Amino acid sequence: MNLVIKGKELQLYFSKEQLNHMVVKIANQISADYQERHPIFIGVLNGAFMFMADLIRAVDPQLKFQIDFIKLSSYEGKESTGIVKALSGLKNDIKGRHVIIIEDIIETGLTITAVIEEMKKLEPASVKLCACFLKTGKQKINIQPDYLCTEIEDKFIIGYGLDWDEYGRGLDQLYYIQ
Ligand code: IMP
Ligand code: MG
Repeated sequence: MNLVIKGKELQLYFSKEQLNHMVVKIANQISADYQERHPIFIGVLNGAFMFMADLIRAVDPQLKFQIDFIKLSSYEGKESTGIVKALSGLKNDIKGRHVIIIEDIIETGLTITAVIEEMKKLEPASVKLCACFLKTGKQKINIQPDYLCTEIEDKFIIGYGLDWDEYGRGLDQLYYIQ
């Protein structure tokens, strides 16, 4: 069945099974790397909520960890505005803690770099970046996630938590708009 949003046909990029396979792989790596370190996963809302929910469900149940969220936005329509609104919402004191930031997608890298800089001011013991997608060749800043599901082509993607002007966020597979 064809999915059409705002007059555009959506093309399947990654199926549920493909996404799940990538997420489980990363969850296993994190579980192995963070034994005994009691990490705190900090999700960047809104886009990361679905990825984070799947990742957390795939993490080793023996691992002791906390979760928290921050909220910001730099997107309007299909272009990143590059303006990152201040971090808000963090409920835990992260001083001395091992932080794993969970982000949906890195395009220019400006959003996540600003988040990491703000985070470091709070003096965590370590900060690692876990991203679901990275758009190849679009970075304006040199940034490499410590954990990454996959690189993607320079296409506008929707679904799996990512929206296009508030459409498509709930789709459980990843699509691109042609
Ligand atoms: P950056 O600052 O350019 O790296 O933008 C990253 C943010 O823009 C992500 O956290 C997403 O919320 C959003 N974003 C970037 N590319 C896409 C896309 O293809 N679809 C939907 N949202 C996107
Ligand atoms: Mg985001």
